[in-house]
Amino acid sequence: MTEAQRRGLNNAVTRMWTFLAPAYDLPFLQRWVYRPPHDEVIAQLREHGSRKIADIACGTGILSDRIERELHPDEIHGVDMSDGMLAQARSRSNRVAWLRAPAEQLPFDDGALDAVVTTSAFHFFDQPAALREFHRVLRSGGLVAVSALSTRQPKLQSSADSKWKPQHNASPAEMRELFEGAGFAISDQHRIPRPPWTRIVSDLITVGLKG
Ligand SMILES: C[S@@+](CC[C@H](N)C(=O)[O-])C[C@H]1O[C@@H](n2cnc3c(N)ncnc32)[C@H](O)[C@@H]1O
Repeated sequence: MTEAQRRGLNNAVTRMWTFLAPAYDLPFLQRWVYRPPHDEVIAQLREHGSRKIADIACGTGILSDRIERELHPDEIHGVDMSDGMLAQARSRSNRVAWLRAPAEQLPFDDGALDAVVTTSAFHFFDQPAALREFHRVLRSGGLVAVSALSTRQPKLQSSADSKWKPQHNASPAEMRELFEGAGFAISDQHRIPRPPWTRIVSDLITVGLKG
């Protein structure tokens, strides 16, 4: 797949999210699907003492807003490609800097940030390109935390060889390889606890540090 085709498919994905944005904040969806990864990411940021943070593919901005309210960082940027999701994010908070940009081409200078986080969206990205970009915008010692769907069933795992089509849920080993390939040292990787009925496909959090 060429970069133009990949970008075209990803634009279709982000337009779909604009369509779905009104349903996104339903309390049951947030509680069971999205909140557990957000809690994990906030714990990582708190432990690391991050002050300049970007939440990539921030959607309607629930995590970015929580980071702002709970951690009081110096900078919190919420970045997404979907106008509809960003419109809801903007109405949620005016203390987060909301930006429209792709994960693979971020509007930050080299070494500008202490932490880059992303939840429930990594499967949509050009994964090596996004991780290289996270590495570029982080300062030395900066933190990256990626929480993403990752099946426990090898038969349900799409092959990394299948390229981007338009989504790929990386296995734990693939995630480690991607992180290390981008220049990160892995500091933690674990499954995020969830109710039993969501166990076949569950979230994996991988945390790394820029050397
Ligand atoms: C399931 S939502 C996740 C939202 C949020 N991170 C959360 O945990 O609630 C996925 C989001 O990824 C965004 N997205 C998909 N591909 C993207 C890309 N390449 N760059 C930036 N955002 C992207 C979509 O627009 C959508 O808002």
